Amino acid sequence: MKQFIHVQDVLTPKIKHTGTAINQLVEEALAYKANPLKDKQLGSNLRLGMLFLNPSLRTRLSTQVAAANLGMESIVFNVDKEGWALEFEEGAIMSGNTVEHIKDAAPILGSYFDVLAIRTFPSLKNREDDYSELFINQFIKYAGVPVISLESATLHPLQSLSDIITIQEDLLHKGPTDTKKPKLVLTWAPHVKPLPQCVANSFAQWVNAWSEAGFVITHPEDYALDTQFTIGATITHNQTEALKDADYVYVKNWSTYHDYGKVYENDPAWMLTNERLALTNNAKVMHCLPVRRNVELSDEILDGPNSLVTTEAGNRVWAAQAVLANIIKTLKQG
Ligand code: CP
Repeated sequence: MKQFIHVQDVLTPKIKHTGTAINQLVEEALAYKANPLKDKQLGSNLRLGMLFLNPSLRTRLSTQVAAANLGMESIVFNVDKEGWALEFEEGAIMSGNTVEHIKDAAPILGSYFDVLAIRTFPSLKNREDDYSELFINQFIKYAGVPVISLESATLHPLQSLSDIITIQEDLLHKGPTDTKKPKLVLTWAPHVKPLPQCVANSFAQWVNAWSEAGFVITHPEDYALDTQFTIGATITHNQTEALKDADYVYVKNWSTYHDYGKVYENDPAWMLTNERLALTNNAKVMHCLPVRRNVELSDEILDGPNSLVTTEAGNRVWAAQAVLANIIKTLKQG
């Protein structure tokens, strides 16, 4: 693995099918969960630079734990709070607030670190700019070392890998009681603030590539996602219909995509409750966290027996460890 930005990065010279490659990565992650220190020398004498242009709890700490399990040193730099304001535009006349160009900063970071991991959220002001993924692409262009996304403007691949690990683990616990594909539903939920589409985009991209589940996306009319990620899923504006017979319900808010970055709808009827969960096949409920309790998802679901959210967040370590191990192995092959 040369980088981890997009689901296609799971492909290897030997594995050309994304579903097979995802299953392989999930297997590796679950092997780390069973034995976290089995490769404790793999990353020795290697250094991971973790750059945050935005806040994080799970992504930062799970990736640091994963690096430590592999014997790799990690150094965190909160660029947004401690660094110079970076300029990303090529040819910019830097007479405004930005102090240092990415062209100058990224090669230096690449000389300090063997691998860079970067979190950079969208502005939610201009869709074209955000969807060009300028920030993370400029790091990739100028750093000269492998780059891992800790969530970029449009995608959150470490989250999606953890989500699939969590579903696969739950299916393994259930055993082969049923041979039909599980039904997976991604449902929009209300929120008070405009949030990025990253988690929903990424979840759709990964589930479609994994193709081991029937996949339905439900959202209010104005909340369509970019079709490059959703193609292959069934899309409905009727949440009741979507929830019928669901085995897994992934709950997430996102802001509008077409009239970009807006909150059009905040109808509490879209929040998942036990009453709505009763429509499902006793579905397990997932959310990437952080979550606004009793706005985005009800206490009764989050604290109830069907919630997988803590397991899902715990699995972030094994997802990061599997990805880091693959990147280190590619680095060592030269
Ligand atoms: N789910 C997730 O990425 O959490 P953090 O924003 O806390 O890293």
